[in-house]
Amino acid sequence: MSTAIEIILVDDDADLRRATQQTLELAGFAVRAFSNAAAMLSETTAETRGIVVTDIRMPGMDGLQLFSRLKAIDADLPVILITGHGDIQMAVQALQDGAYDFIAKPFAADRLVQSVRRAAEKRRLVLENRALRQMAESAGDDLPLIGQTPAMERLRATLRQIADTDVDVLVAGETGSGKEVVATLLHRWGRRRSGQFVALNCGALPETVIESELFGHEPGAFTGAQKKRIGRIEHAGGGTLFLDEIESMPLATQVKMLRVLEMREVMPLGTNEVRPIDLRVVAAAKVDLGDPSQRGSFREDLYFRLNVVTISIPPLRERRGDIPLLFSHFLHRAAQRFRRDVPDLPAFVHHHLMSHDWPGNVRELAHYAERTVLGLAEDAAAPIRDDTPPGLSLPDRMEHHEAALIRQALADNAGDVRRTIEALGIPRKTFYDKLQRHQISRTDYEA
Ligand SMILES: Nc1ncnc2c1ncn2[C@@H]1O[C@H](COP(=O)(O)OP(=O)(O)OP(=O)(O)O)[C@@H](O)[C@H]1O
Ligand SMILES: [Mg+2]
Repeated sequence: MSTAIEIILVDDDADLRRATQQTLELAGFAVRAFSNAAAMLSETTAETRGIVVTDIRMPGMDGLQLFSRLKAIDADLPVILITGHGDIQMAVQALQDGAYDFIAKPFAADRLVQSVRRAAEKRRLVLENRALRQMAESAGDDLPLIGQTPAMERLRATLRQIADTDVDVLVAGETGSGKEVVATLLHRWGRRRSGQFVALNCGALPETVIESELFGHEPGAFTGAQKKRIGRIEHAGGGTLFLDEIESMPLATQVKMLRVLEMREVMPLGTNEVRPIDLRVVAAAKVDLGDPSQRGSFREDLYFRLNVVTISIPPLRERRGDIPLLFSHFLHRAAQRFRRDVPDLPAFVHHHLMSHDWPGNVRELAHYAERTVLGLAEDAAAPIRDDTPPGLSLPDRMEHHEAALIRQALADNAGDVRRTIEALGIPRKTFYDKLQRHQISRTDYEA
């Protein structure tokens, strides 16, 4: 078990080095010994499977300098310091700075072996955890579809089932619910993954642009069309065309798109040429196109053509069980991105997670995680505490609150005028005026 973790020994004293190496080898450890810190350092990376045992007093780089250099390479690498007579103070400091242990010379073999054994076990766990995390990350790749609720399990199963078919898919879901993630996974999990994933946002482009973007054009097809242009439909040949916000597609374009879907051919603007195309279309809509009241000007025939398979992503508020997992994922991602530690979560964050409605769905949750990591999440849901007697007018309630705030500030500052004024941020005269008006006696608050 511990033999897999190597002990890296650094000591300039050849006799001591040999003796220590022997002690550790007798205890069953593999030892790699160095006579100076620089040589050892040059062979160390964050992947080093070892722990370090180093003497402090050495010519050149000493043990403490080595320790701080190692910390920069891998803060989780255990370092055990061997200290001489006068070094205890320094060693204690090093311990506070994160050294694993220090052992004062002369030491009993047992003392060293025990410390090394614990350090090796700790190292083994760290490395194991890292490996697990890496595995999870690479398996989930850069675009995970996180969620363990039955709804998400079903969604994943459906995606797997249809990814490899060529069927066109309509993805429906509220903003931020993961429509683009689903479209991308349909492409990546399917056999078209070697082709292009070409996305076009039908809501972002003016009507005049969208057609030449989609179908392409010949030079002179319209004013301003100087060069020939290959459309996105053709670009997606062999791959997937993702039509985002399809509900915003202009009516005239819808007619042409229907033809593309039915005939599997495209006619670039300004040509009579028909080119066969081989693509899968995935369309995304924020509204329920099946509902005539939401469909608006969207053509029913195009809807039926797209609706061969519809994947509906439920809004986050209908799968609240996924919130903790998603939040934890985004929290770790944000911590990494902003180079911060994952913070302990204040109670109001937990409360917000469980009580908020998440109209912006997963995207909103991801942003909330980022704000939390940056310490910017605020207790927005905190209701204003209002203990005013019922039936008072707003100005009277304000008065009531003002008096309460002043009393609180006085109590917090034990009646100290200067500090209370500072805390309230008001001039001295105003302060005394208010005391009088609210009949507050400052001396009541003196310690
Ligand atoms: N199940 C999920 N697991 C992990 N990340 C997710 C999941 N669902 C969505 N996300 C992330 O949330 C963000 C929003 O997702 P996406 O862009 O797919 O939403 P959308 O439905 O296309 O939104 P919009 O309608 O506003 O375009 C993205 O950063 C995406 O990676
Ligand atoms: Mg989107």
